[in-house]
Amino acid sequence: MNRIITALVAIITALGLYAAKPLPIIPYPQSVETVKGHYNAKNGFDIQVTDPVFEGEGEFLRDKLVAAGKKSALKPDGHIVLQLDSSVESPEGYTLSITKDAVVIGASDPAGAFYGVQTLLQLVDNSKNLPCVRIADSPRYAWRGFMRDDARHFTGVESVKQFIDLMAYYKLNRFHWHLTDGQGWRIEIKKYPRLATVGGVGSHSDPDSPCAYYTQDEIRDIVDYASRRHVMIIPEIDMPGHATAANRAYPEYNGGGEGIFPDFTFNPGKEETYTYLSDILGEVAQLFPGPFIHIGGDEVAYGINAWKVDPHVKALMEREGFDNVKQCERYFMNRMIAEVAHLGKTLIGWDELLDLDVDKSTNIMWWRHDKPEYLTRSLGAGYTTVMCPRKPLYFDFVQHDSHTVGRIWDGFCPLEDVYAFPDPWFESIGVTPEMQKHISGMQANAWSELMHNSDRVEFMTWPRLCALAESGWTQLPNKDYKSFEARLDDAYRLFDKLGIYYFDHRNPGHHPEPAGPEIKKKTRDSETDYRD
Ligand code: ACM
Repeated sequence: MNRIITALVAIITALGLYAAKPLPIIPYPQSVETVKGHYNAKNGFDIQVTDPVFEGEGEFLRDKLVAAGKKSALKPDGHIVLQLDSSVESPEGYTLSITKDAVVIGASDPAGAFYGVQTLLQLVDNSKNLPCVRIADSPRYAWRGFMRDDARHFTGVESVKQFIDLMAYYKLNRFHWHLTDGQGWRIEIKKYPRLATVGGVGSHSDPDSPCAYYTQDEIRDIVDYASRRHVMIIPEIDMPGHATAANRAYPEYNGGGEGIFPDFTFNPGKEETYTYLSDILGEVAQLFPGPFIHIGGDEVAYGINAWKVDPHVKALMEREGFDNVKQCERYFMNRMIAEVAHLGKTLIGWDELLDLDVDKSTNIMWWRHDKPEYLTRSLGAGYTTVMCPRKPLYFDFVQHDSHTVGRIWDGFCPLEDVYAFPDPWFESIGVTPEMQKHISGMQANAWSELMHNSDRVEFMTWPRLCALAESGWTQLPNKDYKSFEARLDDAYRLFDKLGIYYFDHRNPGHHPEPAGPEIKKKTRDSETDYRD
């Protein structure tokens, strides 16, 4: 009987009918070859770093293994080996070979070694014994991002660090930090201290909530924490709109607004505004060593009519021969772009910048899913573009039919859609393979109007950020929603261990939907964009 079963298994395997159980890894690697057997744990978990460039990754692995209950140290005869392998082409790529005797991670760059380490750590976390395997892996996209909005509701250092740590675990590498908006200014600027101490008062739900912001020391600490995890932080200082909190602190640079968006803009007509904003960006550039500064540029239309009657803007228009305020927006943006270049940084902004014919060095974030032509325009014109369309990548939209707190606009953003993005969208929008060459990657945005505490941020983010991680990393032929869903069990186990209030998509009762904030003062978003 046994012989018959063995023969049947051999035939089924030979015919390719037996799908091996996927390894417990998110995002799934590009190439996986499993071999019979397990790493012999008797060989221990000491780590040998054969090249000093991987010292930081070796130390990171050691600390995580120790935290997971293993005995581990950096030792010249360790059986877990991190080695330089110049044949690995992608800087974020790696090979991982597990045999009975050794675990070897090969990479040509510390980022690749780090991702090999993350894959190994997931196997340690999720398997009883480390399976013998050969993995060759590299990402589909260079930009795999997540945006946190600390302006609408402030979360604080520990929550930000926990997100960055989990991002790294799932091989996400860009943390876009929305630090300023109408409801709050959350970054200390030494030259203009009132930005934080006055602009930091209030939130989306309560204009009088106590002052909250990140000090420059806290930011340096977070930047260092992120860089050890190969996560680049992209600070966003939104301008010339979304400036209400800044204008509370320094009304002399106010360009006005209208209706429910009072004091919405910086004033493009005053020369002092450019000095002020350049000083701010100068401090921001010092704090964030990464190549990018994000200066927003979205939704200026909400306040731009105020410019028509502002004497300083009128004087600018006369001086420059402008006949409409849109030209003032272009003038403002071009001056700020020049300032960002002067600081040695690359500018990144929202897709409205395309209407201003900004310099081709600018990176564009396509966010208006209902304006797909902005994606094709951006790519067609050769702008490096990050895709973060509201649907399906805004995590302030609900993720399940039963949820009531969050955006719903003719549908919402379920896990499956995040996972499926972007390929079906390419087809429907008409994004050609030539255009795709200008896509740097994709990003999820967790706008926090209705995320006033960590339970709500976590509930709206997980497990969708796991799906984003796999869509951003794994090549299309290796994506499989059923397999991904099965692998989420490991993520849920981890989240339970860490006390994270995630949405369990198969068992919605596990964590009931947390209540939204009590809005003490209505704004446009709370009135029209959300279910109340
Ligand atoms: C945006 O959602 N206003 C970029």
